[in-house]
Formats: sequence, structure tokens, C-alpha cells
Amino acid sequence: MTTEFAGLIRAIQRERRRRRAVILSHYYQRPEVQDIADCLGDSLELARWAAGTDADVIVFCGVHFMAESAAILSPDKIVLLPEITAGCPMADMVTAEALRAKKAELPGYEVVAYVNTSAEVKAEADICCTSANVIKVIQSLPPEKPILFVPDANLARYAARKTGREIVPWPGYCSVHDQLRAQDIIRAKAAHPGAAVLVHPECREEVIEIADEVASTSGMLRYAANSDRREFIIGTEEGLLYRLRQECPGKEFHLASPHLVCDSMKLTTLEKVLRALETLEPRVTVAPDVRRRALQALERMLNLT
Ligand code: 13P
Ligand code: SF4
Repeated sequence: MTTEFAGLIRAIQRERRRRRAVILSHYYQRPEVQDIADCLGDSLELARWAAGTDADVIVFCGVHFMAESAAILSPDKIVLLPEITAGCPMADMVTAEALRAKKAELPGYEVVAYVNTSAEVKAEADICCTSANVIKVIQSLPPEKPILFVPDANLARYAARKTGREIVPWPGYCSVHDQLRAQDIIRAKAAHPGAAVLVHPECREEVIEIADEVASTSGMLRYAANSDRREFIIGTEEGLLYRLRQECPGKEFHLASPHLVCDSMKLTTLEKVLRALETLEPRVTVAPDVRRRALQALERMLNLT
């Protein structure tokens, strides 16, 4: 792979130095895009990096809400999203307007926004969470308060079961994880009887119930590295397998279903990263008033975990 992309990678390294840029990449990105990252991580790790970097430019290899979070946390930096149409279909399932209407129906509820939301939606929330810290975030809320959780209903149900809290879920879902069914897991287990099943909490309840472990992407990496098991069935987006195989050589990883591919995450290519560095476009910015309110929800989460 390095040979195939050698020229592009050299050009990216040159531009990265010239621009004083850092490249952040999510685990669902193409392997060659993961390889050029200064920070490769899950949504929480990437948000922390974006908040702490002293670079002038952040190139975000992920989807739009992630770049927006970087712009909220680092307003004095130029934040580039190499493919500006790379959105998250789940984040689009809740708008600020619809959330405001729901809040009016449910006064007194604490509003938790999954980080997979627009800045405008975060601005309406009391606190954000990611799949890595959702339980900690829910447990931090006053026990007497009911909770409205947007937009992932599967994650909301999982958190309600783990914490025993009353949570009203928004009817959103991740089109990648939600299509995984118990039948897929049963089929994969029949093919790999010795394998442990790890699934993401964005999966349906029927999938979560028969998994050995429910974990965010970084949680799966930790679990696989520390486990005595040699073989794993992975119920999340296929990009994570590249990282799992690098971090755990000698262990075997099988994707739970061939359909676990997020098309938006694959839109970012090395060519687009290079063009973004050369032109300092496309940029992601957030209006100051929205930014101020969204920052409160994000910082409340980051201060907790
Ligand atoms: P993390 O588990 O990395 O937070 O991400 C899940 C996801 O679907 C990001 O789009
Ligand atoms: Fe959105 Fe799901 Fe793709 Fe993540 S994997 S970006 S939640 S559609």
C-alpha cells in the first residue's frame, strides 16, 4: 500500500509541514487514510485531540459532525473536511427545530446529545456523549431527572438498560449498525465457533443480547488486545478491522456481516486530503452563538471523562 500511495503521501507530508497541520482520522476511514493520521481514534479521542492541538490547521478525516466538533473546540484553527459532503445520516435524523419542539413537550428533561449531531442540535442539549462514555455521562445526571436522548434509539435503549435510568429515545439510528441482525451473528458464530462476539452499542437490542461484549470502537481495540481469545467476530464498521489486525497480530477478526460499510466514511481519499492541504478548503465553521452553546454541552462531557 505504501508503494501504491508513496507519491501522494510524500506530497501530503510536505503540505502538512508547510501548513502546520495535524491530520485526525477515525477508525472507519480507508486504511491508507488511517496510515497518514497524526491521531487515529474514536469520536471521543479525536474530540480531545482537536481541543488540545497547537497546530494551525486540523484536517479531519471523518464525517461532518466530527469536523464541526473540532471547530467548536478549537475556534482559532482552520478545520478542513476533505470531502465536504461526508455527512452522517444518523446526525441528520434530528434537527434543532424538531428538538426544540420535543423539549417544549418534555419540560424538565435533561437532554443528552450523542456527539453524532449537528452543532445546532448540540447547542440545544445539556450534555453530549459518545459511545465510549455514554454510561458515565448518563450516571452523572441528577437521578431524579428523566432524560431525552438524541438521536440514536439503539444507544439510548442500551444506556437505559445499563443504568436503570428513564430515557426517552429519539427515533434515529445508524444505517450501518442498525442493519445487523441476530441472524447475522448466529451465522458468523456457526462459521467461527471459537470466536468472541464484539458489537457496537449502535446495534439493535437483538444483536446486543447475544454478544459477548458491547463496546465502542476504542473499547473493542482494548478488549481484543487484552483478551486471551484468539478469534473475534466484529459488529461494527469494517474500517476498524484494519486497526484490529495491526494492533493484534496473530489474532483473527471476522466482520459480522459484509454490509457493515459506512459509505460516508469512505468518501475521504488521499487525493482529497492533499487538495485540502493545498487549498485550505473545504472549511467547516460554526456560527459564534451556536458555537458558544454547543461548547457548553461538549465541555461538560469532556470535563467528566
Ligand atoms: P465511535 O465508537 O468511534 O465513537 O464511533 C461510532 C460512529 O459511528 C462514528 O460515526
Ligand atoms: Fe453515521 Fe453510522 Fe456512518 Fe457513524 S457509521 S458516520 S453513525 S452512519
